[in-house]
Amino acid sequence: MKIIINGAGGKMGHILADMAGNENIAALADVAFDTGNGKYHSLDDFTGEADCVVDFSHHTAIQSVTSYCVRRKLPVLIATTGHTPDELAYIHDAAKNIPVFMSPNMSVGVALVADIAERVARLFGECDIEMIEAHHNQKIDVPSGTALMLAKRIQDARKDSPLNIGRHENGKRPSNEIGIHSLRYGSEVGTHEIIFSNGLETITIRHDAKNRALFARGALSAAEWLINQKPGLYGMKDYIAG
Ligand SMILES: NC(=O)c1ccc[n+]([C@@H]2O[C@H](COP(=O)([O-])OP(=O)(O)OC[C@H]3O[C@@H](n4cnc5c(N)ncnc54)[C@H](O)[C@@H]3O)[C@@H](O)[C@H]2O)c1
Repeated sequence: MKIIINGAGGKMGHILADMAGNENIAALADVAFDTGNGKYHSLDDFTGEADCVVDFSHHTAIQSVTSYCVRRKLPVLIATTGHTPDELAYIHDAAKNIPVFMSPNMSVGVALVADIAERVARLFGECDIEMIEAHHNQKIDVPSGTALMLAKRIQDARKDSPLNIGRHENGKRPSNEIGIHSLRYGSEVGTHEIIFSNGLETITIRHDAKNRALFARGALSAAEWLINQKPGLYGMKDYIAG
């Protein structure tokens, strides 16, 4: 498989390029690059052969990324986060014509945690649900996109479960809510812990990301899978289902 990495000059782009190896890279693109020596300032500057675009750039790039991929009929894996509703519309439109994979967290482990959490929420009955997420002190979004994705999967199984983000008010906890608590310290890559408790027993599911390379590994595996799919919008749930 030959991939084009968009955002190749960034932290994730570097990790992905190292992991993929030269033999699996069709082109490296980044607005910070000058075009030349296998590097491209813009995807549009590259017209050679490729199997897939992997985008680790910035959510604002999505219009140009999707139009390039639709024009060239290239599958695209979108790993960027923080898309606005308008930007999400470009993704949904592209998925009508090409295979599109999108996930705010490319970790296979987190995908399994999401599946297990949804199953516990469905089968464990009435219980209090609390989530604790921890990340490095440079992270801007609170709570993490992954915490929100996990909460959404729990809500799929347990309707009418509002989020209480950063509980600080006095008073008893409503029984149906999902509490989310965000810690920010040091260089923590990302920890998510979900606690389900009914007073008689407690289930705790926890995922620790040890190194950002895990996102690159997940992206490469998902890209291999994506290039054999029909046009449509896919995520980690589809990927781990096989
Ligand atoms: N899905 C996941 O598992 C996962 C994991 C880590 C990071 N991310 C996301 O991936 C993105 C990149 O993360 P990072 O830590 O590598 O960031 P970074 O800031 O280190 O790198 C981003 C790179 O993209 C380039 N860029 C910006 N706009 C561009 C554009 N329009 N076209 C081409 N290149 C452009 C920048 O020059 C920079 O080199 C972020 O959206 C981040 O949230 C997702």
